[in-house]
Amino acid sequence: MTDGANWVRLAGVKQVGKGEMFAASAGKRKIAIYHLEDDSWHATDNVCTHAFALLTEGFLEGDEIECPLHAGRFSVRSGKGLCAPIDADLNSYAVRIDGADVLVNIPG
Ligand code: FES
Repeated sequence: MTDGANWVRLAGVKQVGKGEMFAASAGKRKIAIYHLEDDSWHATDNVCTHAFALLTEGFLEGDEIECPLHAGRFSVRSGKGLCAPIDADLNSYAVRIDGADVLVNIPG
């Protein structure tokens, strides 16, 4: 059975507490997984669109991630860039919890 999705296990549920994030890789892609205080799960690219910095080394505040390098911010729900110096959004990915596994839909 296929729905065209490519669900990949990138973390275990217990590895990412509420209010925490997790750096994962899928092939060459670096993915940030976020587990928000409202118990929702989200995933975006982990590399900032401005220069090279890993967002999981930045600061998660509510549903916004702040880049550690120049303090650009993105919505973790949509990947949308929220302020200067960000001028391009992040890719965001659907997340599904399956038992103890965190699955992310990575386009093939
Ligand atoms: S590298 Fe992220 S804001 Fe500059």
